[in-house]
Amino acid sequence: MIVSASILSADFLNLERDIRLLEEKGTEFIHIDIMDGRFVTNITWGPATVKAIRKITELPIEVHLMIAEPERSIKNYLDSEADFFVIHPESTQFLRKTLLEIKNAGKKAGIALKLETPVDTIRHCLDVVDLVLFVTCDEGFGGQSFHPLSLEKIAEVAKWRKEYKLNFQIEVDGGINSETAAQCKAAGADIAVSGSFIFRDDIQEAIERLKSV
Ligand code: DX5
Ligand code: ZN
Repeated sequence: MIVSASILSADFLNLERDIRLLEEKGTEFIHIDIMDGRFVTNITWGPATVKAIRKITELPIEVHLMIAEPERSIKNYLDSEADFFVIHPESTQFLRKTLLEIKNAGKKAGIALKLETPVDTIRHCLDVVDLVLFVTCDEGFGGQSFHPLSLEKIAEVAKWRKEYKLNFQIEVDGGINSETAAQCKAAGADIAVSGSFIFRDDIQEAIERLKSV
């Protein structure tokens, strides 16, 4: 598994220290959860924070946009120079258009699916994405449990990927630890996002355990 560390579990007053630590301990991607208080009840950061984080790390940055109508503010996020921009079909009537806007800016485009959203919702956009992210818990907060409903969905999309000869990556996000990551890997996932499992105790050991899944 490729390991993407969610800074939702980092110390918000010491983000730079924690990101450098993640880098030193072997994390491969930095995952930033943007929450706007509308699409989800929680609120985190905005484009200025993503831009500031870009300055202190060369690791690929994924911006998981849990925001209403991402088409309205996607330009601001694209200006932040992160690498992956991941949007939700549940939040927009312009899914394909916004994905193409991300691609046209030379960035990697991803779709994130809420736990209860059927995979058919995204089938028509699989040809333009670099990443499909499955939210594997109830969206909006860290530290929740993995939901096994996700496994069937991952397997279905992995099957389509093979059938249509596409090469997007499949990522899982929510309640990921070494056991749930192994289940997701078996279903077809390539990237594991993890917040609380990585930050709980020994960061390096947690990252290594996820990588070796
Ligand atoms: C959940 C977020 C996740 C979150 C995962 O809505 O998208 O990225 O940080 O946190 P853990 O690993 O604690 O479940
Ligand atoms: Zn996320």
